[in-house]
Amino acid sequence: MAKIIVTGGAGFIGSHIVDALVGRGHRVLVIDNLSSGKKENINSKARLYKIDVRDKKLANIFKKEKPQAVFHYAAQIDARASARDPMFDAEVNILGSINVLQSAAMAGVKKVIFASSGGSLSSEETVLPTPENKISLPVSPYGAAKFSVEMYLHYFWKTYGMKYVALRLANVYGPRQSPHGEAGVIAIFTSKMLRGKQPIIFGSGRQTRDYVYVGDVVRANLLALASNKIGSFNVGTSQETDVLKIFKTLKKLTKSNVSEIHGAPAGRGSEKNKIAGEQMRSALDYSKIRRELGWKPSVSLEQGLKMTVEWFKIT
Ligand SMILES: NC(=O)c1ccc[n+]([C@@H]2O[C@H](COP(=O)([O-])OP(=O)(O)OC[C@H]3O[C@@H](n4cnc5c(N)ncnc54)[C@H](O)[C@@H]3O)[C@@H](O)[C@H]2O)c1
Repeated sequence: MAKIIVTGGAGFIGSHIVDALVGRGHRVLVIDNLSSGKKENINSKARLYKIDVRDKKLANIFKKEKPQAVFHYAAQIDARASARDPMFDAEVNILGSINVLQSAAMAGVKKVIFASSGGSLSSEETVLPTPENKISLPVSPYGAAKFSVEMYLHYFWKTYGMKYVALRLANVYGPRQSPHGEAGVIAIFTSKMLRGKQPIIFGSGRQTRDYVYVGDVVRANLLALASNKIGSFNVGTSQETDVLKIFKTLKKLTKSNVSEIHGAPAGRGSEKNKIAGEQMRSALDYSKIRRELGWKPSVSLEQGLKMTVEWFKIT
């Protein structure tokens, strides 16, 4: 059994990874500043270090704990926010990530699994669903930061032999996703509908995303940990789903009587129904991870939305 650090382990995806690692008998340490994550998300068998990934003292924690592996999930997660404040996004998502990677390399960490973003590298400008080698360069600072961390991972591997897997996640949804903020349309709509509040569909609602259930994402992370493969892998379903379909399905599942209300698309390029930092379409081809790690999505959108609604009902 290994000692493993999970940054962002108090957050939505990170906390599910912590649960799975604890369940497999690993010793898990969480690094999180609790800016969006919550203490109650953290498995009682894991230990929390409440610290910012940008903090220089991070290196001392790594030196003292000497973990074998790191899951790097702490981040500023909102592409639209990154367009409003690219400096802050880069401070957390680039400089904070370098701080994590440098601390890990100096402490002799063998492997890093990084939460990259497939959505920001996939669009109709190349091919949909987009395979790893046909990406479009990012149109948001968030995507630019995630992509640049993949290059730093490569550098740390080549220089220090620290292995890595960058999982280019599609739009992840499921229990514990925060409905506050602007990212995570499923969590936002579900929470609003269950509380009888009116969700707003930005623009036409025809913008598509690839929605992948958090349980499937956790499985991809465990396979990445066990494998000797190095590199970037899409984690998605290859399916495009538009916001209108999400709205209609959730409306049915929550038995809500909200109306379909559209808001003006904000920001640059609004005539094309664009929001700064946002693309119109995306979906990720998952052939590579299926072939090399044996992963494929197992939860359908209908099943996943049902489980998500059930969870939001009891919280
Ligand atoms: N949710 C998605 O659809 C999705 C898609 C692609 C990639 N990702 C990536 O997955 C990771 C987890 O996302 P999530 O959806 O679980 O979001 P989340 O906000 O629930 O989790 C992020 C966690 O990081 C912590 N954090 C934020 N800034 C920090 C800092 N400066 N120092 C220390 N901790 C900090 C937060 O408190 C939170 O617990 C992120 O890296 C995100 O970019 C998410």
